[in-house]
Amino acid sequence: MFPDSRSLTLSDLSLLIQILSFLLFLYAVYIKRKSMAKHGKIAGVAFYLALPSILYMLYSRGRGLTLPYYNSLLGLHMLLGILTIFTGILFVTNRWKWKVKKYMDLEIILWTGTFFLGITIYMVLFGLISP
Ligand code: HEM
Repeated sequence: MFPDSRSLTLSDLSLLIQILSFLLFLYAVYIKRKSMAKHGKIAGVAFYLALPSILYMLYSRGRGLTLPYYNSLLGLHMLLGILTIFTGILFVTNRWKWKVKKYMDLEIILWTGTFFLGITIYMVLFGLISP
């Protein structure tokens, strides 16, 4: 899959964390029908798990990372990512006014969109897709 053999990078670690976090998030969505308490706990863990990787992304961007092509995807990813985090903070800090179905549905869309844009960014960065 990779063009050359190479050592693991922080981007790989960050990707792994994001995949685990997204899977946990999906599980939290699934478990909602069975237990609301478990839903809240698991979604919270998924959110906190993602944070170290997001710090790395901010660091990477702060160092001036741009994409060789499709760079507007990075801008869109950052915008959706900031909205995802902002909405997530409202939930994990129990802002009850915001903890309603329509905003939770919005969070599912935001997180999913940000995640798949992130996967695309990773693939562009490591030459797994090209124009
Ligand atoms: C919940 C929110 C977010 C999710 C699920 C997410 C997901 C991802 C994923 C899966 C990757 C590819 C793995 C990697 O290279 O690290 C990535 C990369 C990246 N993301 Fe995010 N992201 C989020 C928030 C953000 C935010 C808020 C920013 C900046 C404001 C951001 C900027 C970046 C950058 C610059 C990269 C490339 C990092 C690199 O490998 O050098 N992301 N993101």
